[in-house]
Amino acid sequence: MSELNIVRLADYSKPAFGIDHHELQFYLQEDSVRVAHQQKIRRVQEKTDANGWTIEREKHLVLNGEGLELLSIAVNGKALESGQYRYENDLLTLFDVADEFVLETEVRIHPDENKELSGLYRSNGIYCTQCEAQGFRRISFTLDRPDVLATYRVRIEGNKQQNPVMLSNGDLEQHGDLGEDNYYSVWHDPHPKPSYLFALVAGDLAQVSRRITTAKGKKIELRIYTEAKFISQTDYAMQALVDSINWDEKRFNLSYDLNRFNIVAVSDFNMGAMENKSLNIFNTKYVFADIETATDADFHGIQAVIGHEYFHNWTGNRITCRDWFQLSLKEGLTVFRDQEFSCDMNERDIERINNVSLLRRVQFAEDAGPMRHPVQPQEYAAIDNFYTATVYEKGAEIIRMYHTIIGEEAFQKGMALYVKRHDGQAVRIEDFAQCMEDAGGYPFTKQFFDWYTTAGTPKVNFTSAYNQHNRHFTISAHQDTSAVSPARPLVIPIRLALISPNGRQYRFSDGSYSKLLMLDQTRGSWSFERGEEDLIPVLMMGFSAPVYYEHHYSNEELAVIVRHAPDGFARYEAMQISYRRLFMTALQKPLKTKDHAKDVAEMMMHVLANDKFSAGEKALLLALPSLDSLLPYLEAPIDMDKAVGAYERIVRIIALKMRRAWSDYLENDKEETQAKFSVRDAGIRALRAVAWRALAVFEDDSVGERLIKYYQEAQCMTERVNALDALMMRADKCREQALADFRQGFAEQPLVIDKWFALQAKDNCPEALERISALAAREDYHIGNPNRFRALIAPLTQMNPAIFHQGDGAGYRFVCTQIRRIILQNPQLAARLLGAFSSVSKLDEQRKTLARQELGALADIEGLSVDVREVLERLLNGLKS
Ligand code: ARG
Ligand code: ZN
Repeated sequence: MSELNIVRLADYSKPAFGIDHHELQFYLQEDSVRVAHQQKIRRVQEKTDANGWTIEREKHLVLNGEGLELLSIAVNGKALESGQYRYENDLLTLFDVADEFVLETEVRIHPDENKELSGLYRSNGIYCTQCEAQGFRRISFTLDRPDVLATYRVRIEGNKQQNPVMLSNGDLEQHGDLGEDNYYSVWHDPHPKPSYLFALVAGDLAQVSRRITTAKGKKIELRIYTEAKFISQTDYAMQALVDSINWDEKRFNLSYDLNRFNIVAVSDFNMGAMENKSLNIFNTKYVFADIETATDADFHGIQAVIGHEYFHNWTGNRITCRDWFQLSLKEGLTVFRDQEFSCDMNERDIERINNVSLLRRVQFAEDAGPMRHPVQPQEYAAIDNFYTATVYEKGAEIIRMYHTIIGEEAFQKGMALYVKRHDGQAVRIEDFAQCMEDAGGYPFTKQFFDWYTTAGTPKVNFTSAYNQHNRHFTISAHQDTSAVSPARPLVIPIRLALISPNGRQYRFSDGSYSKLLMLDQTRGSWSFERGEEDLIPVLMMGFSAPVYYEHHYSNEELAVIVRHAPDGFARYEAMQISYRRLFMTALQKPLKTKDHAKDVAEMMMHVLANDKFSAGEKALLLALPSLDSLLPYLEAPIDMDKAVGAYERIVRIIALKMRRAWSDYLENDKEETQAKFSVRDAGIRALRAVAWRALAVFEDDSVGERLIKYYQEAQCMTERVNALDALMMRADKCREQALADFRQGFAEQPLVIDKWFALQAKDNCPEALERISALAAREDYHIGNPNRFRALIAPLTQMNPAIFHQGDGAGYRFVCTQIRRIILQNPQLAARLLGAFSSVSKLDEQRKTLARQELGALADIEGLSVDVREVLERLLNGLKS
């Protein structure tokens, strides 16, 4: 592979030119689109900026434009001669430009041939765009960078039969007929925005609309567009949108700023969704839901993603990023906002537990492998590779720490200040930190800021001690600075409670029952008066910082925490500690596994019988952690075969010990559930699923028959999927029967067929790879559809370590063979899925060698894109012996 061109934060300089306004005309033609573009450009005055950089007077203007067929180019109405400009290597240079002028360009693009799904593409007969981060340059020439903000007017002209709907950002200004079945519409967005927020949609789309008046009296027309046959599945998404709008007004005092808000759902989309100003474009997966075709998790995901994209309107759009190194400025903050939205709409403890578990499973793993990078990276080759769990999820944890440290009230003051100071600007993460510092009185721009520029997950060790003489109870903490790079102590907020074995809560001197400790050195220690010998520290309540942490709890203490801790995350974590210890025992002292399992099962039975917990919380507490979520806790090199063996052993032993309890539970379970989504019913269904998964381990036929019955009597998609999920653990007739029925019953629902693929990709029976390979060869494995392609590859690489990491390398070979099929046509998707190979870096030499061979062969392919090359380079470096 040739050298990659690296972009560095340190090299940032302000743009020498600004753009005031874009006029764009799109002519949708049979086999191509003509884009005429007038932009008002002016030189930014020579000056030094706040950082003391001189902005030099640039003679030439350089614009981005990728693979565009240039039809004409003019400045102030005069066509340019060949010596006045140059277009090569994706850059258009205009020589010796004036201080102010209008640039007119015309290009032709080919949306039907655009399989990268970036820029303007047409699939399923629908035109749509994806411009973040750098897709606009594939549509027309411009300064395609987030710190150039301009207003847009967009005129679209097309055939009425083919494109009865034609949309762009902002409000509809005009529309009219042009004869011969052609017509036009004109959209105007008065809010200056960077090019990455531009959007255009056209095609034969059905719509639903709803008019609302918000609490603040704002009237908005909401619309959702998609293919007619699925439009009936958009009610829940519409409700989620209404809820998002109301929530943002209520909790953040932020209101919508236009009269129209459109969502378009398309089936071929590389990511979840995109926050284009007033014209959000969504993957159908995050819009379509009814109880027959979507699981409770899907409903939840829709609410979260609709919220996320809507909340970007302020945190991302009105206030955007100065450069792409600031990506977490909008993403971390917006994830935090969507998490809080979900907390307020559903059950807070459950939300928090799920967020933490995702963070640990995905982000902690990322942070420990060759893809590791700080939340604010200092350099990249392809920005598309940095839409990661680190930027999003760890970024959200950092925002949560601001909130934890200064509290809701000061945090909201900080948000108000942020909006007041920076509305309409493209800013840095530092600017956000400064607002929070000014509002909250905590120095976020100092040591705390290191969270953004440090890679790796800190490790904290806790000890506690009691002094009989002065009755002081002392908590000490030590952070291992070598766990992060650069090595240094970070500011770690620790939310602490102390409870006695009977559950009584210790009252701190200020009268409260919990305390925030700030660990900002390598070591810290805090003493509390009037203590007692047997106090049990409940540490990191709510997971108050994104760290690994440990404390030597006895099993009895863990049981007390599960029963009495005043915090859902702490209760969950006490169970996780027990499960992890059991796994370690199985790995290191197999003979002791049984004894240990007895204690764990006892804790589990207490939880199951405890009416204090909701069914949903019980389900989270009682589900054994997946093997992939245990791997981050093992030291390298991991012996994968041993890990798989140990895991299977604990699953079996716990199932044996819990068999009776689960059977009784299912038998006596008389809870009524409705065939519709609700938090309560989702919790009940989740708990039943945990029981069924436990019972599915047992080979006897009666279990298979009962599972088939569970499948057949399913009230909704969640139950069907849960039944199949349990059946997948068994290589028997019942499983094949149910899978075949499922495939046939939902032939017309692509998102359900994706589930059918995904379920089987998690199969870890010994011959699973044969089955998965056969699936990949099917005609309905449409590799051009990212959801379908992912459905097989993502669960296999991320959730099925036994098969993916099979010792003979067949898993690696299979995945690379599949990736090869799309690597040139959809590099972004390929790059993303390849990231899963970072987990190999913790395994043995043999596996590393096998993976390296497969990845090396991919790297030899001619014509790879920058994003794929960057990922391959990082992986290959990480897999060196
Ligand atoms: N901004 C979008 C969101 O968070 C995601 C865009 C992802 N873009 C990319 N090139 N991966 O909702
Ligand atoms: Zn986002």
